[in-house]
Amino acid sequence: MKFNNYNIYNKFSSTEIQKIDSKAKQIKSDLYAKKGKGSEYTGWVNLPTSINAELINDINETAKSFNSVEFVVVIGIGGSYLGAKAVIEALKNNFSSFSENKNPHILFAGFNISEDYIYELKQLLNDKDFGIVVVSKSGTTLEPALAFRVLKDLLEKNIGTEKSKNRIVAITDKSRGALKTLATQNGYKTFVIPDDVGGRYSVLTPVGLIPIAIAGFDIQKIINGAISAEKDARDSKISFDLAMQYAITRNLLYASGKKIEMLVNYNPKLHFFGEWWKQLFGESEGKDGKGIFPTIGDFSTDLHSMGQYIQEGERHIFETVLSIEKPNNQLIIPSSEANLDGLNYLAGKNVQFANKQAQEGTRIAHESGNVPNLTIEIPVLDEFNIGKLIYFFEIACAYSAYIIDVNPFDQPGVEAYKLKMFELLKK
Ligand code: PA5
Repeated sequence: MKFNNYNIYNKFSSTEIQKIDSKAKQIKSDLYAKKGKGSEYTGWVNLPTSINAELINDINETAKSFNSVEFVVVIGIGGSYLGAKAVIEALKNNFSSFSENKNPHILFAGFNISEDYIYELKQLLNDKDFGIVVVSKSGTTLEPALAFRVLKDLLEKNIGTEKSKNRIVAITDKSRGALKTLATQNGYKTFVIPDDVGGRYSVLTPVGLIPIAIAGFDIQKIINGAISAEKDARDSKISFDLAMQYAITRNLLYASGKKIEMLVNYNPKLHFFGEWWKQLFGESEGKDGKGIFPTIGDFSTDLHSMGQYIQEGERHIFETVLSIEKPNNQLIIPSSEANLDGLNYLAGKNVQFANKQAQEGTRIAHESGNVPNLTIEIPVLDEFNIGKLIYFFEIACAYSAYIIDVNPFDQPGVEAYKLKMFELLKK
């Protein structure tokens, strides 16, 4: 993995750099010594190196038990679904929902309260034998509880109450919450979300790993990537710790008035990785009246819409480009005798060549419009590198929140809407 901030430090004074650098050393030692704010939720820090073979085996065996069904619905919201969605979308074929698959199709529910969404999902699953993976750490969140009630009811009608018990897996707290009680009473297979791992840091626990394994991806390779990132971060000095360099750079930019960070991809498979990143950083940093506003850009698509604002609108944006060095497939642009579209200057080149030039051209143009650019590059989009990216961003996020002195692991602001909603619902 590479991180490039294009010598941005030259734009800041040595006092500014020294101030943040000295803070960085303290932050790093506090995080690993579990002494920082919210340290009771830092179980994810050494999760990759501590995950045991028995758990991986159990997850893979559970995943296999779903191989005979066409659909598995993963029910969860926020940190209880975005990690799995991000990884599955990044790794699967763009058009796999239209083809025969040896693994079940993964559908998601419980991340909205849309009557149409749940109704149409019910219609699709009507009369079918399907699987359910229900994920809720608290076990009390409205959106997944509602979807689970409807889908459990449907599954029981479709295949009978007894058989349905073997089609449902619950991932929740080890002892608390309504979902835990329900799972125990019905004898569902359960997996535990560790107490010291919060929702948005839980993708490398069964929360993310079960759906990813059911979708047919190699979770050991994902863990291996995360182990490599864990070691890189833990064992390197500040100046070689790429996650810290990213955290420092984004906060220097933030302090200089760049209050919005756009995580840009040039591959639609990374759209939901951006959504996962957005939650991770938004929920971790946005508190106490502070925090970079995280948003995502799907390029080149959004260059034809948001591109105008980025180039010439208010100057409060910087971009972090999530780049992939090599595509997994090769496609050569054909030549045309008539050349009516005028594209022969690209004939014989890979599509990736055009994508890379678009990427570089956009960086130069945006930088000239005072939109600083950072690049994080992985060699290929595969399980190993996705695992690496997950851990990289988790650790960078914790560093970054500590730089602005907020607790990266709580989300007190999320309660406000729930209180008002439950008041109106007369709970
Ligand atoms: O990051 C978080 O903690 C949140 O996004 C939660 O994951 C989300 O609110 C879902 O909570 P729960 O898993 O308790 O249903």
